[in-house]
This record gives sequence, C-alpha cells and structure tokens, in this order.
Amino acid sequence: MKILLIGSGGREHALAWKLAQSSAVEKIYCAPGNGGTAVEAKCENINIDDIDEQLKFAQENNIELTVVGPEAPLVDGIVDKFKAAGLKIFGPSAVAAQLEGSKSFSKDFMKKYGVKTAEYAVFTDRDEALKYLETCSYPIVIKADGLAAGKGVVISEDYSNAAQTIEDFMVSDIFKGSGKKVVIEEFLDGVEASILSITDGNVIIPFISSKDHKQIFDKNQGPNTGGMGAICPNPYCTEEVLEKFEKGILEPTLKGIQEENMDYIGIIFFGLMITKKGVYALEYNVRMGDPETQAVLTLMESDLSDLILAAVDKKLSNYEVKWFDGHSCCIVAASEGYPGKYQTGLNIAGVDSVDGKVFIAGAVLEDGVLKTAGGRVLAAVNKGTTLEEAIEKSYKDMEKVKFSGIYYRKDIGTIY
Ligand code: AMP
Ligand code: GLY
Repeated sequence: MKILLIGSGGREHALAWKLAQSSAVEKIYCAPGNGGTAVEAKCENINIDDIDEQLKFAQENNIELTVVGPEAPLVDGIVDKFKAAGLKIFGPSAVAAQLEGSKSFSKDFMKKYGVKTAEYAVFTDRDEALKYLETCSYPIVIKADGLAAGKGVVISEDYSNAAQTIEDFMVSDIFKGSGKKVVIEEFLDGVEASILSITDGNVIIPFISSKDHKQIFDKNQGPNTGGMGAICPNPYCTEEVLEKFEKGILEPTLKGIQEENMDYIGIIFFGLMITKKGVYALEYNVRMGDPETQAVLTLMESDLSDLILAAVDKKLSNYEVKWFDGHSCCIVAASEGYPGKYQTGLNIAGVDSVDGKVFIAGAVLEDGVLKTAGGRVLAAVNKGTTLEEAIEKSYKDMEKVKFSGIYYRKDIGTIY
C-alpha cells in the first residue's frame, strides 16, 4: 500500500515511523515531511503543501490511503475534496473539524449533548463582552473562537487583564479574524490529561492516556508552548477518572457526532481537566497531539495502518487496540528562545547514537546534514516497564543529542 502523509511535525515523523512498521505498507510519501521523515524507512518527502496539488499527486501516484496530521487542512476541507474524488482518506470532514476549528461550535455541541464542560458565554461584540466581564468572578478564561496556533487562550486574573485581552483579540485583531468572536469560560482548577482516540463514526476507541507538559520551564513555569514533553499513561487517569470520562464525555460526544450526521472518521483527541468537581472536557482536537503522539505510538503494539483502514472502512466495532504494558516518556528539545524568537540553521548531531528513538520536528536535512528549522526541534522517546525507567532512558538519550542552544525541560514526568 502507498500512503500519503500530510504534515511536517514531530507527530508526523512518529506517524511515518509507526506506519512504516506495517508489512502492508510499501511506501509513505510525506507532504512536506521534515528532516526525520527524509531518512525514515519507506519514506520519501515531497515538497507540496497545497491541498489541490496533494490531491493531484494522490491521483497520479495510485495513493491508496491519505493520513492527515495537522488540523489546518482538515478545517480547510481536505477530506471532503479527497472523498469527492473517490480517494480513501483518514480524517474528519470540514464540518466535523469545526469541533476544533471553532471553540463556540464545540462548546455549543458539548452543551447540546450534555458533555461535561466549563460554563461559558460567546461574544461577537466587544462592549457586550466587557459588560459580561464586569459580572464574572476571577480568574476567567478567554478563548479566541478560531484556530490560533495554540496561542488563543488567556487566563485572566482580574478585570483589567481580561479587558485588555478582549481589546487584543476583538479590536487589535491579533489573530487575524480568529479572535473576532470569543468564548469566555469558567476557570477550572485541576490536572490536564490528553486522551487521543480513534473513531469510525460508530464507536470511539480511546488510546492509552497521556500527559502533556505545556509550559516552557520546569515546575510548569513560564509561557505555554506546543508541548515540551509527554508521558504515557497519564498517572492521574485512574480507572475512576476514565469511567467518568467515558460516561460524561466520550459517550455523549459519540451520540452528538451521530445525531448531527457528522462525517467523522479519524482521530478525536479529548483535552480533559480532572478536578475535584469531576472530569471536564476542555476541548476537542480533530488530530493527534504533538508531543503526545510520539509517546502514545511508542506504546502501540497494533498495526497502525490496519487500525486506520478499519476506521476508514467503518469496521472499528470490536477492534482491540494492543498496547505495551508499560510506560513511555517523550522529551522535546527546543531552540534557545522558543516560544519567542529563535535562530535556525544550526547543525544537529547525535540523533543516530541514541538507544531509543529520536523523532524530528523542526529540522531539515540539507546536503545530508540535519539542521534546526523550528522552535520545537526534536524529541527523544523511550519506553520502560516503569515510568522512571522510561524517563531515565530518554534523558540519557537527550544528552547524546547536540545543537547550539539546545533547551529541554529537566522534569518531564514529575508530578507536581
Ligand atoms: P484549549 O485550547 O481550550 O485546550 O486551551 C488551552 C489551554 O488553556 C488548556 O490546555 C488549559 O491549560 C487552559 N485552559 C483552557 N480552558 C480552561 C479552563 N476552562 N480552565 C482552566 N484552564 C483552561
Ligand atoms: N500537545 C497539545 C496539542 O497537540 O494540542
């Protein structure tokens, strides 16, 4: 089978690596891929970023399955276009992708189907939003409605900060349209969990739970990033928590997907907040998480291409996804300065000398030399029978990887 894999991050390198392990997979074209997929077994990078060009490539090269990594092409309707052309593609339709693409759409969906989530209100008018903020208790959470590359959520401690956020989002329009509409939401105090799941529209099968580490600095200090590391399973996801998630979030979500006749085949990623008041859905993502994917796929023992095909063919009922009975730890190395400004083009050494696996994210291969090209550059991942073993192996591997200004957290997996 020939696969077209859309995307260029660490998540896509992990997907390519896992798909390549399948004996049914002959070739994976990564569009556009990165410096990791450039050298991964069975993979070839193709430098096309445009949906119509990707469709043309799939038609001309007998692609039997297209797998979409990031959310943007899903929201832009890549699945609808490929399906209309009679091609097999794994991902939700543009309408279903609104569950990530629009916070108000997803909150209204959650409310309609009784998914446990924070109280909220939606505003398109600045004055109305400001009036509402005068009545709120703080902290409060303000979210840009549209996609904002992970930067569209602000937790405001007081009215003046909240009012400034409204000005930034709605008037200064810092997200170029995405913040013209805002969701103002009750603040939930708790611990986050990521539950990536797969659906064929008939069932949702949750993957092993994971825990992202969003802040840039140790002890969860500093600004949020795309994610600086992940562990699997999430130590907070006890059986009791998972049961609450299934009843209060997964089941009503599936009912909603079915009743709304959403054409949803793909990944549904539940961002959860585990609180003293219960387990809440913070958000849906319609794609896998990054860096959660790198940690989750490291523990997956099932054949990923077989699993994806079962979803695409609507045959997930009774599918049992198999997992390594242990733990994984993924540590992300970033460029100095990230999530602010950083330099690129720096030589990377040592990725082949690790004992586990390095997944490449923001790095490219130039004349055979791996060079930094982004904020989050790569991740070292290992599994172990205990969490401590997985953590220790990944830190040992990280010490072997070198580039100028390399930065990574020293406390991935520590529970605060
Ligand atoms: P979201 O994109 O909606 O998941 O929000 C991004 C991040 O903001 C989450 O991962 C949480 O860390 C935080 N966040 C979002 N909503 C809330 C909330 N209601 N209460 C507390 N923190 C939140
Ligand atoms: N790591 C969180 C995300 O991918 O949204």
